[in-house]
Amino acid sequence: MSWLFVIFPFLILLTEVNGKPPHVVFMVVDDLGWNDVGFNNPDIISPNIDSLAHDGVILNHAYVQPLCSPSRSAFMTSYYPFRLGLQHMVINNEAPVCAPLDKTFLPQVLKKNGYATHIVGKWHLGFCRWECTPTYRGFDTYYGYYNSAEDYYIKVQAQGFDFHINEKINWDAVGNYSAYQYGDAVENVVRQHDPTAPLFLYFPIQSVHEPLEVPLHYYNMYPNITNDGRRIFSGMVTAADDVVGRLVKVLKDRDMFDDTIFFFTADNGGWVPYHGNNYPLRGGKITIWEGGTRVPAFVHGKPLQKTGVRYDGLMHAVDWFPTILEAAGINYSDPHRDGISQWQSITSLSASRRSEFVYNLDNYTTPNQGHAAIRVGDFKLIVGYPGLYNDWYKPEEDWPGPPPSSDYSDLDSQMDPHTYSNWTKFRGLYNIKDDPYEHNNLYDKLPEVVEKLKARMSHYYTMMVPANYPPNDPKADPNNFDLWWQPGWC
Ligand SMILES: *[C@@H]1O[C@H](CO)[C@@H](O)[C@H](O)[C@H]1NC(C)=O
Ligand SMILES: *[C@@H]1O[C@H](CO)[C@@H](O)[C@H](O)[C@H]1NC(C)=O
Ligand SMILES: *[C@@H]1O[C@H](CO)[C@@H](O)[C@H](O)[C@H]1NC(C)=O
Ligand SMILES: *[C@@H]1O[C@H](CO)[C@@H](O)[C@H](O)[C@H]1NC(C)=O
Ligand SMILES: *[C@@H]1O[C@H](CO)[C@@H](O)[C@H](O)[C@H]1NC(C)=O
Repeated sequence: MSWLFVIFPFLILLTEVNGKPPHVVFMVVDDLGWNDVGFNNPDIISPNIDSLAHDGVILNHAYVQPLCSPSRSAFMTSYYPFRLGLQHMVINNEAPVCAPLDKTFLPQVLKKNGYATHIVGKWHLGFCRWECTPTYRGFDTYYGYYNSAEDYYIKVQAQGFDFHINEKINWDAVGNYSAYQYGDAVENVVRQHDPTAPLFLYFPIQSVHEPLEVPLHYYNMYPNITNDGRRIFSGMVTAADDVVGRLVKVLKDRDMFDDTIFFFTADNGGWVPYHGNNYPLRGGKITIWEGGTRVPAFVHGKPLQKTGVRYDGLMHAVDWFPTILEAAGINYSDPHRDGISQWQSITSLSASRRSEFVYNLDNYTTPNQGHAAIRVGDFKLIVGYPGLYNDWYKPEEDWPGPPPSSDYSDLDSQMDPHTYSNWTKFRGLYNIKDDPYEHNNLYDKLPEVVEKLKARMSHYYTMMVPANYPPNDPKADPNNFDLWWQPGWC
């Protein structure tokens, strides 16, 4: 009996800060590669992010999907994208698709449990009808854009403007650099928040996705970087870092910082043709290699028992949902979801409760759209096409040839077909513990391990739903909506 009296108050301390639910910030930096942040690379200036990371727990093996919409759908639902029909590429601008409406989103659960819920930044989970959009999926307010990317100043993506406040278009956003505006927006969220309620801020900032754009002041902070694209990109990271500094400051000003748990991750690896960098990891965004899927991530907040450390346990994108809920002291159960709460593991630095995960599952014979890979213990099995580029890229290297456009539906015709067409027959087995940079293919050497991982992969294939990847619908055209990307066409 006596142990109960000891353990019980201890658990309360872990889940609640000062007796009430904590505020939660969940920040996602777009396309931030392994080698694109100061705590992994001293050439990058990101003091605000670094100080949170160093005062928290760095998640050294945090995995995501190789692309935006799939990762974001995993964050919001705790389901693997291959179970949501989002295993192909991203949700294209004109695709009549959104993250399945029968799945509960993370903010819906938080809202039900008394949280004020806000999103500032990029959505990219579909917007063809209102039910797909943020304020219908659990967020009290929305400030940001629907699509994958846009000009940082004029807020144009392809042939339309894309910027919204809640359900309204936001002309006022047109013209200024978005990182400044997101800084204003997160400050406003915190300033206007009633501190008696817990706050959930989901902050998927636009930075550092292409296009490469940054105010000169940030570019000038990197005189020693000789590659101009890498220099602009590095400045973009610093611009995002300044926004983190502003967010921390306003939380402190309002006496909320000590009660805030800060979760930070990228959505996928750096996009090498646009100077994102994952060195020494292999590959990058849109590849199933570690460079596309293992990203900078950390947790910061009072409940952490030990800080200033790197946590080596496995964490996957699907785990953020239950981890955040447990941190918030919310008991939510869905036996079908894929995520596992890592909260106790991270706060106490004990073993991860995850020993395997799916990088992705898809029809691997289709170049550009068909990744299939799985991790079990220390081993990773890749079956078929790993990605558009398969090498190790250093930060100051230029991409050979013109970079592909933002139209991901057409990447394979834009890139040299010789670089990928023969890779659909590829089979790879890597011991990621001994060989984290994937130099040594053990596929032919360890047939029993291959068989074991193939069996796990077959098991997951039984859970796969068909990809929901329809062709573009001309009804989406912004010309039908006063030149704005808007819901109402599916
Ligand atoms: C851009 O936004 C920042 C932050 O609100 C502001 O200080 C600056 O004056 C704005 N610049 C322009 C050109 O509107
Ligand atoms: C640039 O390199 C010079 C010479 O090595 C060094 O003194 C200086 O601190 C560097 N500047 C930055 C911003 O890293
Ligand atoms: C959490 O919910 C599950 C399933 O509804 C229930 O079995 C369990 O007792 C609950 N735990 C707490 C601590 O409330
Ligand atoms: C997989 O892709 C190939 C090549 O694009 C195609 O021929 C085949 O029908 C696809 N298989 C399935 C099950 O979708
Ligand atoms: C595909 O072809 C390229 C160029 O010939 C070669 O470098 C690469 O190793 C090949 N890939 C596979 C999986 O055979």
